[in-house]
Amino acid sequence: MSDQPIGVFDSGIGGMTVVKELFAVVPKESIVYFGDTARVPYGTKSVETVQRYAREDTELLLAHDVKMIVVACNTVSATALGEVERMARGIPVVGMIGPCAAKAVRATTSGCIGIIGTEATIASRAYETAIEEEAKRIGKQCVTFSKACPLFVPLAEEGWTDHKATELIAEEYLKELRDKNIDVLILGCTHYPVLSNVIQRTMGSSVTLVNSGAEAAKKVVEILNASPNDGHATSKPSHKVLVSDIPRKFQAIGERFLGRAMPEAHQVVWKESWTIQR
Ligand code: DGL
Repeated sequence: MSDQPIGVFDSGIGGMTVVKELFAVVPKESIVYFGDTARVPYGTKSVETVQRYAREDTELLLAHDVKMIVVACNTVSATALGEVERMARGIPVVGMIGPCAAKAVRATTSGCIGIIGTEATIASRAYETAIEEEAKRIGKQCVTFSKACPLFVPLAEEGWTDHKATELIAEEYLKELRDKNIDVLILGCTHYPVLSNVIQRTMGSSVTLVNSGAEAAKKVVEILNASPNDGHATSKPSHKVLVSDIPRKFQAIGERFLGRAMPEAHQVVWKESWTIQR
């Protein structure tokens, strides 16, 4: 049971930043990664569409007999976590929002928390809700300020981590958060850790950046530790990367996000039937 892989899915290749965090804390676990590269981005799509994609992505991971599902995509975590949990039939599901919100509430001194993410994540107010709940639970006062930063996704994929253009765009997006007394900023998107140097410089060194993938990885460890027969894997790990399309530069981007060599990706195809909506 414990040697089953952990399933991880994302709208595309960005979830490799979350796999990087998993490798750091559970290096002995096998991972099956699915990136829906044929349908990325999710962050600009409607909730209904993201929920349908999330159900199909979950189905694929369940077919690989995973022992846990990590929803690496913040957009799915914000809008469709319930869909994944319903389909998971009791298998633990770890999303990005809860662990990250809890960390942000614990870390803030000023009580002012900034949130950046895709349009869909910000519109969902999922982080705000989770922060409110956690603040209430531990008796802390928190206010939130959020901003969608969609251009960070292509900039991260382009590898423009310290580029002038990225600095200008970061300045434009983040200037309204800078005068809000924020001391904690949530990086609520798979791609943003790749740009953390620029984001940190723009916000100032007194602001703590919270990486949603790193907090989710700690939650994975917690679940494995709490598992009745020790949930940790015992045999040699093997990793699989599945994608719905293999775009140009895919391997290079994936390896940059992961920070090491990535197993060769295999393409999977959805066998769907289409009907005209009336
Ligand atoms: N993976 C998405 C997220 O973390 C970013 C890319 C997209 O829009 O699909 O929200």
